[in-house]
Amino acid sequence: MRPLRICLLASELAPYAKTGGLADVLAGLGRYLDRQGHDVRLFVPLYQSIAKSDLVTTLLARAADLDIRIGQRTIRASIRTATLPQSKAQVHFVDCPELFHRQGLYTQDADEGLRFAFFTRAVLDACQRLAFAPDVFHCNDWHTALLPLYLKTTYGWDRMFAASRTILTIHNIGYQGMFGADVIDSLGLGDQRGLLHHGDLKDHKFNFLKTGVLHASKLTTVSRTYAKEIQTSEHGMGLDELLRTRSSDLTGIVNGVDYGDWDPQNDPLIPHRYVKTDLRGKAKMKEALLSRLGLQSGAKSLVFGVVSRLTSQKGFDLFADSIPIFLQREDMRLCVLGSGDAHHEKYFQWLRDTWPKKVGIFRGYNDELAHWIEAGSDVFLMPSRYEPCGLNQMYSLRYGTPPVVRRTGGLADTVQQWNPSTGEGTGFCFEEFSSHALAGTLEWVFKNWRDQESWQKLMQNGMAMDFSWDKQGPDYVRLYRSLVSS
Ligand code: ADP
Ligand code: GLC
Repeated sequence: MRPLRICLLASELAPYAKTGGLADVLAGLGRYLDRQGHDVRLFVPLYQSIAKSDLVTTLLARAADLDIRIGQRTIRASIRTATLPQSKAQVHFVDCPELFHRQGLYTQDADEGLRFAFFTRAVLDACQRLAFAPDVFHCNDWHTALLPLYLKTTYGWDRMFAASRTILTIHNIGYQGMFGADVIDSLGLGDQRGLLHHGDLKDHKFNFLKTGVLHASKLTTVSRTYAKEIQTSEHGMGLDELLRTRSSDLTGIVNGVDYGDWDPQNDPLIPHRYVKTDLRGKAKMKEALLSRLGLQSGAKSLVFGVVSRLTSQKGFDLFADSIPIFLQREDMRLCVLGSGDAHHEKYFQWLRDTWPKKVGIFRGYNDELAHWIEAGSDVFLMPSRYEPCGLNQMYSLRYGTPPVVRRTGGLADTVQQWNPSTGEGTGFCFEEFSSHALAGTLEWVFKNWRDQESWQKLMQNGMAMDFSWDKQGPDYVRLYRSLVSS
């Protein structure tokens, strides 16, 4: 079968621009497609942080002066390029300082919609200049969700794209790119009102993700359970009804893990490595982590790790009536890395102030410390309210750090309940979103921790799991091929 031409576009791509799992997934999928011999090109905005970093990019002479008319404005972009580390795949960066040199990747600025609509337009213009006719444009989340509509309308004249099909992957339905209908003209969609969501137009609203759901050839999301959940009113965040009308085009594909980056056997970011059959390195990582965060050492203590965006999605509201009980009573440590909502940050600071030798927090983003926490903790905490897929629980399995998860979305698909009597299972799951349910599970975790022999088995079960891209990636390729042959 001939290799495919795939254009993968998103607002994040590791190692260049990352706030969460989206960045890791794009890099992992990009590398996988490249390894399989496909012609994959990845596109991401050239944010200020990339421009300032020592990551080298080269100006693409053929696409140095893209003047793109969008709404009433003409905005200039150029394309810079680099090779995705550990692969041969080309990354193309849309360079437009006016739009992308801001404080962070995402903003609350009035032109937030324009920034990503323009990015999407620039990807299409760049493909024209590079004479790259993708079989599939694979869009991700709201930031790139307008591509299917632009392809049908603004670029509908271009025969080069006549056979191109589109996929929209929903990584998180909690972020939809919702604006007032006044943005429609500025996005160059003023003449396309007939193709926009009628109900929204009536309510004077415009929604990027919804527009993508209406127009993409196929839809995916990042786990099988989440694919079902988002079609219900409980989890669909207002898109469930529309998604049900596209049910036959929607599939769930569980994210892959890039074990080149996330494996304690060869992780360059941790000082002590280890394998399933020899866990001495993990014990050393535990001591190193406790000392790094200024916590009381103790091989027998049970160390819980958290690495997360601190948002309501991640379920930290459940900590208030559960975690303090165990901090007070047990030989427990809690290592937290994250930043986000002020009330979560304040709560973790309060825990730290109350139990300074037991609780360590690092507020901010730190890739190296994320790896240390995966390796040095005994248990990973992820009690999410909802979780489209989640990568950290899969990383923690590989690091021999059984996860405590709520059974939702990708957590339900990737973690099996531990059963000490059969020796089967990989972690600890609970159903109900309540502190009571979490506390009951933590009680059970402490009980199991006391039986170190069976705990070793639990760790080894998790370490043996394989969520590599080589396993998960073929589902995407099958989907791409189904579009090409149709
Ligand atoms: P989400 O994408 O919802 O944030 P995932 O579990 O899919 O959740 O992915 C989170 C990714 O972001 C992981 O690679 C995790 O290590 C990383 N991460 C999250 N917060 C931080 C942080 N404060 N510092 C470093 N890495 C972080
Ligand atoms: C989102 C989701 C997370 C998922 C990630 C990558 O940020 O919150 O569950 O793993 O995207 O798909």
